[in-house]
Amino acid sequence: MKNKLTNNKTKNKIISEMIRVNQAGEFGAQKIYEGQLAVLKNDKTIKKMSEQEKKHLETFNKILIKRGIRPTALSPFWDLGGYLLGVTTALIDRKAAMACTVAVEEVIEEHYKDQQNILKKDNTEKELIKIINKFREEEIEHKDIALEHNAQDLKGYQLMTKGIKTITKLAIFLSKKI
Ligand SMILES: [Fe+2]
Ligand SMILES: [Fe+2]
Repeated sequence: MKNKLTNNKTKNKIISEMIRVNQAGEFGAQKIYEGQLAVLKNDKTIKKMSEQEKKHLETFNKILIKRGIRPTALSPFWDLGGYLLGVTTALIDRKAAMACTVAVEEVIEEHYKDQQNILKKDNTEKELIKIINKFREEEIEHKDIALEHNAQDLKGYQLMTKGIKTITKLAIFLSKKI
């Protein structure tokens, strides 16, 4: 009995952390695109991706509230950080904005895959698994779109994507706990 309770507690904690970090990540993603669109105002491709990110964020906002999970305390940082990352990359040029998307989506794609692997052992979270599957596919789409739009032609592509990936991973790590 004690064991079961401990297990449930662990499970709840893990799933709460997942939803917290996903909400934070989708919030950050949305801010990045908002920043990019502040510079590249009428970019249809970026606008389309931004619309999808809005839906991702709305979905995790709802789940967060429904389950009574506290949001990350780091929201103000992701708000500013995401926006600045978007503005800065877009100011370099459009290829840099696209490279930013490739870097972020590569990390998020892996992040959602890790969650899929954990959740598939659990048959009580079918709805959450479905959502994560769908969003992961859309993130992969974003990455592919950014690659089609010449992200890799950016001078310093390797260095920049490596840097953004490190920042994104750190943001994920922190948002689970804080
Ligand atoms: Fe997203
Ligand atoms: Fe995305």
